[in-house]
Amino acid sequence: MIERPHHVAWVRRLLSEQPVVALLGARQVGKTTLARQVAQAYGDGVAFFDLESSRDLAKLADPMLALEPLRGLVVLDEVQRRPDIFPTLRVLADRRRGARFLVLGSASPELLRADVGDSGGTDRLPPPRRAVLAGSR
Ligand SMILES: Nc1ncnc2c1ncn2[C@@H]1O[C@H](COP(=O)(O)OP(=O)(O)OP(=O)(O)O)[C@@H](O)[C@H]1O
Ligand SMILES: [Mg+2]
Repeated sequence: MIERPHHVAWVRRLLSEQPVVALLGARQVGKTTLARQVAQAYGDGVAFFDLESSRDLAKLADPMLALEPLRGLVVLDEVQRRPDIFPTLRVLADRRRGARFLVLGSASPELLRADVGDSGGTDRLPPPRRAVLAGSR
C-alpha cells in the first residue's frame, strides 16, 4: 500500500472548510481507498454508501430522509449513478450541525456540471497514474 499522507490531509482539510467535497477521478486511480483513509479520522461517525450497490441505492430511495439524520462523515461513492442527489446535498450543506459529505465519482460530464451550491466545493484529485503507483511500490 502506497501511503498518501498529503492527499489524506488535503481532503481532510477541505472537509473541515466546507460541507461537501467532491473527489473526482478516472476509474481505478484510488478514490475509494483514499476516502477510506480519510474516514478513519471520523471513527464510528462514518456512513458509506456505494451507489453501485443496489442495497445502498435502495437505502437512498428518499435521499433527504436517509441523509438528514446523519452526522460525522458521509461518503457517497460512485455518485455519478445518482446525480439527482445533489439538490439534497445542497440543502443539507446549509445545515449548521449536519454531516460532512465526501462524494466520489468518475469525472462524467454530468458530475462536473453538478451544482452543489455556494457552500459546497469541488476539488479534483490529481490523477496519480497507475504506472507511477506501480513504479513506486
Ligand atoms: N494508495 C494505494 N496504494 C496501493 N494501491 C492502491 C492505493 N490506492 C488504491 N490502490 C489499489 O488500486 C486499485 C483501485 O483503487 P480504488 O478502488 O480505491 O480506486 P477507485 O478510483 O475507487 O476505482 P473505481 O473508479 O473503479 O471505483 C485497487 O486495487 C486498490 O487496492
Ligand atoms: Mg471506487
